[in-house]
Amino acid sequence: MMFEEMENRPFIPTEYVVRLAQTPWERAGYHALRRDVFCTEQHVFEYDDRDSIDETAIPIIAACCVAGMPDRIVGAVRIHEAEPGVWRGSRLAVHADHRKLGRIGAELIRMAVSTAHGLGAIRFLATVQEQNVLFFRRLHWKSLGTITLHDLPHHGMEADLSRYPAHGFDQTWLLRPQPRSRQVA
Ligand SMILES: CC(C)(COP(=O)(O)OP(=O)(O)OC[C@H]1O[C@@H](n2cnc3c(N)ncnc32)[C@H](O)[C@@H]1OP(=O)(O)O)[C@@H](O)C(=O)NCCC(=O)NCCS
Repeated sequence: MMFEEMENRPFIPTEYVVRLAQTPWERAGYHALRRDVFCTEQHVFEYDDRDSIDETAIPIIAACCVAGMPDRIVGAVRIHEAEPGVWRGSRLAVHADHRKLGRIGAELIRMAVSTAHGLGAIRFLATVQEQNVLFFRRLHWKSLGTITLHDLPHHGMEADLSRYPAHGFDQTWLLRPQPRSRQVA
């Protein structure tokens, strides 16, 4: 391989950790990623996507790891109990460079729903942008109907909790996504 080709080859991390965001570094990265995706990329919000739900929500992050240590926050989602037993997930985001690796978004959803299940959820709901409905269906969610939110078409959706066993871990496994479309040098 030519030196120039090696220089241009993107760094593709092989290890990710999905965990409840607890440290200041994790929380700062979680909010920065949300701003990047929902303000800068999608223009759903102008400058800041925070709202009153953040006062009580549990933040969850995905970080790519270097030498086994979390290096950069590349995924986010939050969960909160909207009414007794009814939990909701929102602000699911994966950094654009780390999408479609086949796991990160899916693992954030798994961590979100299984954590809520472990905290007593009997239903888990989300309002999902229309272009992501198929993604959620494939992860055992069903549509409850269409709604408009932030002027965009969405579906109210519900997770099949039998597919998301309750757990109380604050961290899930390290992942080694294998992108099918990228050649291994
Ligand atoms: C939606 C989002 C979180 C998905 O994250 P991701 O890390 O790319 O998802 P994954 O890699 O875990 O995807 C798992 C599978 O679903 C597929 N998939 C991902 N996004 C999809 C979509 N929008 N529609 C259909 N399938 C999708 C992947 O190709 C993969 O399929 P495979 O297992 O056959 O390869 C990410 O695209 C994102 O952050 N988008 C911008 C913000 C956003 O839309 N948030 C959601 C608001 S509801």
